[in-house]
Parts: sequence; C-alpha cells; structure tokens
Amino acid sequence: MKVIKKISEMHSIAEEIRLSGRKIAIVPTMGYLHRGHASLMKKAGELADVVISTLFVNPTQFAPNEDFEKYPRDFDSDAIIAESNGVSYLFNPEVKEMYPDNFNTMLGLSGAAKKFEGAFRPSHFQGVATIVAKFFNATKPHYAVFGQKDYQQTLVIKQLVRDLNFDIKIVIAPTVREDDGLAMSSRNVYLSAEERASALILSHALTTATNAIENGERVRKIINAIMHQTLRSVPQIRIDYASSCDADTLDEPDDFLPGQHVVLLIAAYMGKTRLIDNALISIPEQDNIKPYYFVNQ
Ligand code: PAF
Repeated sequence: MKVIKKISEMHSIAEEIRLSGRKIAIVPTMGYLHRGHASLMKKAGELADVVISTLFVNPTQFAPNEDFEKYPRDFDSDAIIAESNGVSYLFNPEVKEMYPDNFNTMLGLSGAAKKFEGAFRPSHFQGVATIVAKFFNATKPHYAVFGQKDYQQTLVIKQLVRDLNFDIKIVIAPTVREDDGLAMSSRNVYLSAEERASALILSHALTTATNAIENGERVRKIINAIMHQTLRSVPQIRIDYASSCDADTLDEPDDFLPGQHVVLLIAAYMGKTRLIDNALISIPEQDNIKPYYFVNQ
C-alpha cells in the first residue's frame, strides 16, 4: 500500500489507473479505523480493481465547539487495517493540502440536509459535501462506498452526486455492530465503561420501534414516542432526536403507508459523547394493517 500526501500525485495515479482500463473504488474515512471501515474496504474490493481510501480528519465538518482537536487518531494502526483490507493507496493529505490559505469555496446545501443532523450541526454537511467532492476530484473513482451508520450523510452524498453530475456510483454498506448491538464508531472510544453499557439503549430503542412497526404500528408520533420512552430508561441520556421518517426524503408523514421505506434515526449524548444510530424498515406493499383512523371510524 502506498501513502499519498499530495493531490497532484493522487491525480496522476488515478489517471494512470483509469487509462489502464481498471476501475477505482474509494472509501472516504476520518481514520481510527475499525471493523466497520474494514467492511467498507472489502466491499470496495468486490466492486473495483483498485481500492483507494482517504484518511483525513476534515476540520470543516466540525463546529468550533466540537471534537476536531481530540478526534482519535492512530495513523500506524489505520495503515495496517487499510492495507490488510485490500487498500492499494491511502490518500492522507495535510489540512493545508486540502484547504490552502486561499481556499474560498464551500458547497451550499438545502432540503433534507437541513433536518436532523443538519439542524443540530448546521455547518456539518456543508463540510462533508465539500470534502467528499474534493476527494472525488482527487481520486477519480468509479465507485464510492459509505456506511449506513451515517444514514443522513449517505443521502447528502447521493444528492451531491446527482446535483453536481459526478459520474460515480454510491454504494452503501450495512452498519457493523459489536456483538451486543452497539454500532461501531470511532467515537465509541470516548465512552467510559458505564456509558458504554448504557449506550446499548440506542440499538435497543431502534429494535423496539422496529418491532412495533412489524406488529402493525404505522403512526409516526407513536413510533417516535416508543423510541423516546425506551431511550429515557437511561437517566443520563440527552436526546437530540429520535425520529421515524421517509427513508428517501426524510419527510415526516402522520402515518406510514404500504410500500413506504422508513428510517428510524437517533442522535443522543451519553455523557459528553454524541452517538448516532439508525435502522431501515419497509412497510409491506400488501399491508393488511389498517391505519388507526380507519380503525377508529
Ligand atoms: O463519514 C466520515 O467519516 C466523514 O464524514 C467523511 C465522509 C470521510 C468525510 O470527511
């Protein structure tokens, strides 16, 4: 595996790979790699001939009060994990390489990007979209693989690709979980043993709400209340949001309809650590559960 620090070198390598007729898949990361990232790298290897991973803690997606400075970093371990999961090139630029002093262009987002994460972290997706667009230009990929763990981010990136006409296929790989259900995240390292145990309540709330939908619940407010109630069984939790919505648009209808794809989204603080998790569920096309207003007529 070769570590690349400069955009110009990344350009030449990507160009050479393309000219030789080989396909490129990229896996953008902020490092502190875990099994979740490894699964994205393996998926990238199934899709393309050459896997490029980016390793860059992107300052523009952190607000001034967030954890950019203390975001966990471990280059040596990341290099080993990337190489052993099939990455041929690790693009690991310095901040000044991606954002030189005369950098003056940030993407502007609207629509679903403004909800949930976008509402609680107003500049976050602008930073994500801008750096991902820069990575696309630097690495010239045919495919880019992202994790479902950052569900709303995957919608923002698909929208970016559509709106700016990138000729790149976005592939979303499932969230990788610890044996007890906690979604893998680089930020889990911040959790104390007690917080780590309590953090399981996020996946538990998703399962409880998923079960309710499977058992016929279609009313969005009730599904949301089930998640809130489950999360609040841990007194030290601080919920940013726990919401069910349309998985494609993030719209919030009163009731979910047959055939609708639903995403359950949670963001909550456990101590000082902000965790996010989500679950996808589809309402059956032939839904024989009647919405509550028919039942009550
Ligand atoms: O998901 C992440 O790790 C980051 O948001 C990304 C996509 C690498 C952009 O910095």
